[in-house]
Amino acid sequence: MNEPFSLSLLAAAAALALAWPRLSRRLALSRAKHPSLTGHARMAKRVAAQVPGYAYDEARFFSADAAPAEVVARRRAGFARLAGQLNTRHAKSIALTHSAREGISDLQFTGAYRVPFQFGPYLRQHLGLGSFVQRTDGVMVTDLDGQRFYDLTGSYGVNVFGHDFYKACIAQGSARAAELGPLLGNYHPAVAWNVEQLKRISGLDEVSFHMSGTEAVMQAVRLARYHTRRKYLVRFSGAYHGWWEDVQPGPGNPLPPGRTYTLKEMDERTLKVLRQRQDIACVLVNPLQALHPNAAAPGDSALIDSARRAHFDRQAYTAWLQQLRQVCTERGIVLIFDEVFVGFRLGIGGAQEYFGVRADLLTYGKTLGGGLPVGVVCGKAALMKRFREQRPADICFARGTFNAHPYVMGAMQVFLERLHSEPVRAMLQGADARWSDRAEQLNLRLRQAGVPVQVANLGSIWTVFYTQPSRYNWMLQFYLREQALLLSWVGTGRLIFSLDYSQAEFDAVCQRFVAAAQAMQADGWWWHEAGLTNRKIRRGVLREMLRQRF
Ligand SMILES: Cc1ncc(COP(=O)(O)O)c(C=O)c1O
Repeated sequence: MNEPFSLSLLAAAAALALAWPRLSRRLALSRAKHPSLTGHARMAKRVAAQVPGYAYDEARFFSADAAPAEVVARRRAGFARLAGQLNTRHAKSIALTHSAREGISDLQFTGAYRVPFQFGPYLRQHLGLGSFVQRTDGVMVTDLDGQRFYDLTGSYGVNVFGHDFYKACIAQGSARAAELGPLLGNYHPAVAWNVEQLKRISGLDEVSFHMSGTEAVMQAVRLARYHTRRKYLVRFSGAYHGWWEDVQPGPGNPLPPGRTYTLKEMDERTLKVLRQRQDIACVLVNPLQALHPNAAAPGDSALIDSARRAHFDRQAYTAWLQQLRQVCTERGIVLIFDEVFVGFRLGIGGAQEYFGVRADLLTYGKTLGGGLPVGVVCGKAALMKRFREQRPADICFARGTFNAHPYVMGAMQVFLERLHSEPVRAMLQGADARWSDRAEQLNLRLRQAGVPVQVANLGSIWTVFYTQPSRYNWMLQFYLREQALLLSWVGTGRLIFSLDYSQAEFDAVCQRFVAAAQAMQADGWWWHEAGLTNRKIRRGVLREMLRQRF
């Protein structure tokens, strides 16, 4: 063989051998990504930047699926009735929403992302929704017009035990803190008591207080990086952990993904990556993802077809967490359970107890503040320490003006005391079985009514899905509102029940839910041509976007 040629072959082989470990780790990382866009933050950001903004005119609003004239006429009549009904019944709430909207960035944002964007402008022009309310009592919310709704918003998950419970926490907690007032820096004695309770509940050694769930997660990740001296955090596809840069790579974040690996949940290839790499500081788990692993939190703005599914498999998720725990222990990776959403809702011991797996760091928020804003980190002493005695200048800084605010600590103290009261015990006792049974009751009634809607649940956190292809599923949120069922701005993506719902109140919700779906069906929104599939719908929307773009 030609000598220079064999030498260069040898050199190439040697270079490959040297680069192989790195290449193989890179390959393993790619294989551990979920194939959907939720698994590819960088690509998702690029795709999102290309989606053109456009709106349907009136004709297309009612016939985006090319429904026949008779169906379109029914939709139009139904829409006019619905809009008339809501606009009259909630006139004051809607008027204030309209006039305040311009100055409230949040209202503009939530209003724009309540339905798929093409339908938004026509809908907002004709169908008003009020965002202002004046009173809560029991499971009911009253708006400015005196109209009462069943509350299915769960206050973003804060409301686990009912509005009256939190009103009491705030009132009693404020009374306890009143003498001290909002003094910061020194502590109200409630702080020491809360810490003892949280150590007992979490089974961990130390506690730090912050002002929101986002901040608690930031601090947990920062501590993990500080102690492991590694840079990367692993989060799972679709999981929400607040809006801080590193935990929210991809669309929604102006920066490109930084030191975050977004990997596939419940997958052996992810475990392989964790075993192989030396640069992973921590793994963040949001146990709510057990309801829809690897999918983003469901919202009606992305409901362009009926492909969305959800299903909670407790056994499978438990097995996954056990494997994850083992690998993290072997590799010195910090396992963080983000219990900001599910904490205290799955039981006092939270996800750790529910799934029988222990974390190294835990984050809490939402409900733990007893109705006031809070974020909490609980952790092992070695991980919570923010300085090194041997290197006193090498610290992990975390302070916040309002941390451990006396009023928040007071409300938290009442919250933690009341966890052991009889009414709360009764709400938590058998809650899992009760809420799964209730989901089944609703599913049965929906099937009997012949409407293409079902629900899936993780305890009292529910999500709606649709059993036949349609472009109009998101309309259901407005029929639900007509039936006095109040959902959050993400539409039918998430219904959150407070545990104080009696069976009679739940039955009323069920009956109204079915009535809403039947009205929507009667108005023709679920008409679909034979042979329509979700795939065909998606392709059609894609073609439409391409036409707009080019
Ligand atoms: C799991 C999880 N982590 C963190 C956060 C952020 O909490 P906050 O909104 O209080 O910043 C949320 C909020 O929904 C959450 O659900």
